[in-house]
Amino acid sequence: MTTLPRFSPLLGAARVIPVLTIEDVAQAVPLARALAEGGITVIEVTLRTDAALKACEAIAHHCPDVVLGVGTILTPSQVDEARDAGAKFLVTPGTTEKLARAVAESGIAALPGAGTISEMVALLEMGFHEMKFFPAEAAGGVNYLKSVAGPLADLRFCPTGGIGATNAETYLALPNVLCVGGSWLTPKAALDAGDWDEIARISREAAKLGRR
Ligand code: 3PG
Repeated sequence: MTTLPRFSPLLGAARVIPVLTIEDVAQAVPLARALAEGGITVIEVTLRTDAALKACEAIAHHCPDVVLGVGTILTPSQVDEARDAGAKFLVTPGTTEKLARAVAESGIAALPGAGTISEMVALLEMGFHEMKFFPAEAAGGVNYLKSVAGPLADLRFCPTGGIGATNAETYLALPNVLCVGGSWLTPKAALDAGDWDEIARISREAAKLGRR
């Protein structure tokens, strides 16, 4: 089995990844810059809007210091689209064998999604040691990840789903948690208002979480 590129070398000091749903491509660059100003430069743009791929291209082109992840990848063709849009890492909410193979063959670092032990073992069989745990709170949260640490000691996680400023530290304190993801850094009101100062402020707070 070939060794797959790992996501963790892309992580800087900050251990929070904003999960971004961008409706308006014009927001992409100011949003990424505001997050970076606050200290968060590793981001995930989800493929949930018509604007998403163009937003990724804009960030990749104009924000060279930002480590762009493309998320909500559900099909092999979206793996190709993400690569073409400048993805430095790929994120899937869950992973079929077909999707895992496409991600592995892309040669791009990834956090494939898993929500159960069997899914985690299946990803491990394919050579993935780092994955997204989704939906973290609904699937068992911190206690679930503590239980997984015994049998699956080599795995490292980015839990996402239901995580916010108040519970992020609890996850980040676990030895098998690399980072956490969440949409709480980009409240709709701030996005709609183009309030980049507010986004930078939230980013600054989030960048302090779980510092090692
Ligand atoms: C994701 O795709 O990771 C989630 O939608 C983010 O979850 P959250 O909105 O609960 O932070």
